[in-house]
Amino acid sequence: MLIASLKPRTMGGTTNTGLLAYALARAGHKVTCYDADESLQLAAWQRDVTDFPCQVHVADTPAFAETIYPDMDHSGINLVDAGHAENHPDIVDSILEVADLVIVTVSPTKPDYERLTKPERGTTLAKVIRRSGALRPSGLPPTTYVLLNRCQANSGNPKKYAGLLRDGGKSGKDPKWTVLSTRIPRREKIADAVGAPCDVPERKAPYDALVTELTKLGHLPAVGGTA
Ligand SMILES: Nc1ncnc2c1ncn2[C@@H]1O[C@H](COP(=O)(O)OP(=O)(O)OP(=O)(O)O)[C@@H](O)[C@H]1O
Ligand SMILES: [Mg+2]
Repeated sequence: MLIASLKPRTMGGTTNTGLLAYALARAGHKVTCYDADESLQLAAWQRDVTDFPCQVHVADTPAFAETIYPDMDHSGINLVDAGHAENHPDIVDSILEVADLVIVTVSPTKPDYERLTKPERGTTLAKVIRRSGALRPSGLPPTTYVLLNRCQANSGNPKKYAGLLRDGGKSGKDPKWTVLSTRIPRREKIADAVGAPCDVPERKAPYDALVTELTKLGHLPAVGGTA
């Protein structure tokens, strides 16, 4: 299967991709990562640390569906870190043609909520995902979840923005998102994770919870099995 990690600019997408890969591997899944962001930070992370859990293939191409996807090991979990959709819509479109599941990383703050829902320039991510249905065999966009990252303890923001995302904004007329109940906390050790060793308690627990939730939702293949 292919899980796509998407986000508007600088939300914590690469952090979430790498640490989700680490949690999936520790849960016994066969994992392979793909770096489809031209900044290649995920690939550099794998190069620079010894406990990164899997191979990271460079895959920042708008021909992702045609040239990268067919060669994947489809019996395992493939995880692709997409660059921000504003600057790389062609790559994101190609990933969405073939992704089984999309996780959109969003920080629960006003500017980040607005960057997702009302960007000053470009197409909203909701529309990019919705229109991908036209290129998929099912005719439907991939199942998509929002994962809230950088959630401050004792702040009302995670609850507030989760509600706004679920309800389609204050008016109820904006796109409605399904928000995972797992929340990645705002932590220095997570802020420093990209390019650093994975085996740190703060870098494990929230992502283990994410794997548990995705498993309960029925989105992950059986460990050691096929999708
Ligand atoms: N849980 C967290 N707590 C605190 N800071 C975080 C957390 N997750 C990410 N960050 C910080 O957020 C910033 C963006 O993280 P990251 O590079 O993973 O995002 P990105 O969406 O991949 O960005 P880009 O658009 O550059 O690819 C970094 O400065 C990182 O330190
Ligand atoms: Mg990134």
